[in-house]
Amino acid sequence: MQKFIVNGGKKLKGVIEVKGAKNDALVIFAASLLISKPVIVSNVPEIEDTKRLLELIEKMGGKVERIKYGEYKIKANNLKTYLIDPEIAKRIRASILLTAPLLVRLGKVKFPHPGGCVIGERPIDQFLDGYKNMGARVYNKRSLYEIIAPRLKGTEFVFNNITVTGTESLVMAATLAKGRTVLKNCACEPEVKSLADFLNSCGAKITGAGTPYITIVGVDKLRGGVHRTIPDRVEAGSFMILAAATNNKIVIKNCEPGHLDSLLSSLKKAGVNLKVKKNCIEVIPLRLNSVNIKTHEYPGFPTDLQAPFCVLLTQSKGSGLVHETIYEGRLMWTEELKRMGANIHMYDPHRIEIKGPTKLRGREIESPDIRAGMGYLIAALCAKGRSTINNVYQIDRGYEKIEERLRKIGADIKRI
Ligand code: EPZ
Repeated sequence: MQKFIVNGGKKLKGVIEVKGAKNDALVIFAASLLISKPVIVSNVPEIEDTKRLLELIEKMGGKVERIKYGEYKIKANNLKTYLIDPEIAKRIRASILLTAPLLVRLGKVKFPHPGGCVIGERPIDQFLDGYKNMGARVYNKRSLYEIIAPRLKGTEFVFNNITVTGTESLVMAATLAKGRTVLKNCACEPEVKSLADFLNSCGAKITGAGTPYITIVGVDKLRGGVHRTIPDRVEAGSFMILAAATNNKIVIKNCEPGHLDSLLSSLKKAGVNLKVKKNCIEVIPLRLNSVNIKTHEYPGFPTDLQAPFCVLLTQSKGSGLVHETIYEGRLMWTEELKRMGANIHMYDPHRIEIKGPTKLRGREIESPDIRAGMGYLIAALCAKGRSTINNVYQIDRGYEKIEERLRKIGADIKRI
């Protein structure tokens, strides 16, 4: 099990480049299984989750070719099984994104309850209700779900919980269903709009993606296409918070500021000076004062940036309330932060108060999931002394070669 050794408190400066969005690349890979012609995806982050999903696609019979660094060609003209490999599916929640394409192409799909980050219960009832609404039959046998649908038909469906992968899955299912589908209370994340833009470029008829109301008119088949993965807003936001929390001037390049309005607003309120340009943001920290944040579906404050922002609040003057509304288990990681010296009080699983500024001290920590892992990494860079971060596979799931990119801006970090 690899680990990072970090000596914190070093001066950081320079430029850090943002990679393609993990949660965009993953859904486009899945969407390519709807199509029997080749699909080329570029600007793909070379991370564990993208490699795992491509492995899964190959196991299903999809042909995957790595054209060059960050660019892949996928050809799914002879899918040979409807079973999603349980061993891989248990390690990555995004495996659920394969259910719609397999159901559409093969009329059947079998899969385990998806695994991934342990941040909350993460049900899949919205997926199952949606498929049933479109005429599928759903069975749950010996811990495997089995869904059967000769041909899905268009429907009207209202999500009772906003889910990004749920929205993406029903959009994919409806793209080749018979008739018209109207989805309501959809996720509005940029990755949903990016998926619709890609599918429309392949001949789909999707309108309203990026808003709570999406209409899809089913077509008979889709042609191949190309897609450039959008910049990873969570990676960009993590680096902005890193600069502010460690009080260093850093330029974040190849990002899309328009996807980060909520974070930009919170950082400005916290006293951070930001120079926002077309696809880069310069962070010039001044004195940090505490602010309250409440995570919310897009365009609200992203739950995936809650962990990094908590670290910033340990370095801010005053008291900040963090209200994590999406997941009931996503604040547990702050227990370890307290052992590094943070002054945190948990009112309930969804609400903590962080008082600052406090000096953080390096220590040995374990990454429980992707974003908490990044939180610990930022805390270690703020802390005086040496930290050991274990289980860095979790960080590698979402951040490509993170220690090399941090070393380039002056961090004292090495992987062993
Ligand atoms: C996406 O997951 C992201 N993953 C997550 O990023 C992100 O945290 C999340 O959106 C919220 O922004 C991908 O895109 C691959 P959910 P999503 O777990 O929307 C409820 C990361 O680190 N729900 O499905 O698929 C659920 O309980 C990951 O990159 C249902 O009730 O998230 C939760 O409250 C972590 N029924 C909310 O919706 C369902 O059937 C979001 O849930 C599905 C979900």
